[in-house]
Amino acid sequence: MTTRSSYIAGIGSYTPDKVLNNFDMEKIVETSDEWITSRTGIKERRIAEDSQATSDLSVKAAEAAIKDAGIKVEEIQLIINASAIGDMIFPATACIVQSKIGAVNAAAFDVQAGCSGFIYALAAANSFIASGMYDTVLVIGADVLTRSTNWKDRNTCVLFGDAAGAVILKPSQKGSGFLSFYLGADGRGADLLKMSAGGTRMPASHKTVDENLHTIYMSGNEVFKFAVKIMGEASLKAIELAGLKPEDVNCFVPHQANIRIIDAAVKRLKLDHDKVFINVDKYGNSSCGSVPLALCEAVKSGKIKNGDIVALVAFGAGLTWGSTVLLWEKE
Ligand code: ACO
Repeated sequence: MTTRSSYIAGIGSYTPDKVLNNFDMEKIVETSDEWITSRTGIKERRIAEDSQATSDLSVKAAEAAIKDAGIKVEEIQLIINASAIGDMIFPATACIVQSKIGAVNAAAFDVQAGCSGFIYALAAANSFIASGMYDTVLVIGADVLTRSTNWKDRNTCVLFGDAAGAVILKPSQKGSGFLSFYLGADGRGADLLKMSAGGTRMPASHKTVDENLHTIYMSGNEVFKFAVKIMGEASLKAIELAGLKPEDVNCFVPHQANIRIIDAAVKRLKLDHDKVFINVDKYGNSSCGSVPLALCEAVKSGKIKNGDIVALVAFGAGLTWGSTVLLWEKE
């Protein structure tokens, strides 16, 4: 794919302590543990403290990844933060993270690609390393979507949770790391999943607040149909671009949005269920935090071992999708 590829030299994640389970949700909206479990696979989700913004979760995950990589923070040359909703519309959350962790030598910018953001950010970071421009890049996926949820809308509020994950990428010397990337978008679906107000199209006003336009809107069924199709397709594409077959994948780490969406992708790839990493039951859909958190848990729990072929895939607002295949090996 490229002359110089990168590998994951360190990984970390963070989830807030506060747990909201489905029985708690029953007290907030008209729903049931049975409905949420059978339609989504979610049993509980984490909720950030009021004082925590997206960057606070990013920082905790980043610090864990830096420690895991055994590098000094000053070595980081670039920070890419992927979030559906950052601390503010501007400046970039990556700049706030840069200041908080003291990465004084790093350039910093954000990636906005909905829940696919972490995969897009990995692809960008890998390209910076492939070009020779940087040797040490911090990539973060983080979101606090529960802050922007309409807690009266049972169609959306049961789905989301807060989390962050981060990785340090370094140039690969031995051929481990990223073998392929596949990214895509279909902007015709932009209205299916969005937060309408607060930007230039619909600046904040009393009316936008009264009409709940600063919260997440989702056409659940349409997004579901898209996700079921694209998760399998995008995974197959990245596997093919890596010159591999689905059966070569040792661990499949999909975006944790809904167990039925994951099951559809697994069926399409004809993968054994024991090769699939699932934690949607514990965290719900943590948007950009989902894939790096799942990858981190898969690694730390021993589900991913040195020498494993790992496939990551996500879909999200935009509409967007992204997938990548990597050879997991710490060099
Ligand atoms: N509790 C009880 N009933 C509910 C709830 C709830 N929490 N939510 C919806 N319902 C009801 C609906 O009102 C509807 O009732 P009706 O038939 O009387 O109108 C019924 O359940 C069925 O609704 P559907 O939308 O058909 O249910 P579906 O099986 O499609 O599941 C869901 C809904 C879970 C939202 C599904 O569509 C989904 O997962 N969509 C994808 C969502 C997603 O992953 N989004 C994240 C994108 S990533 C990002 O960028 C943030």
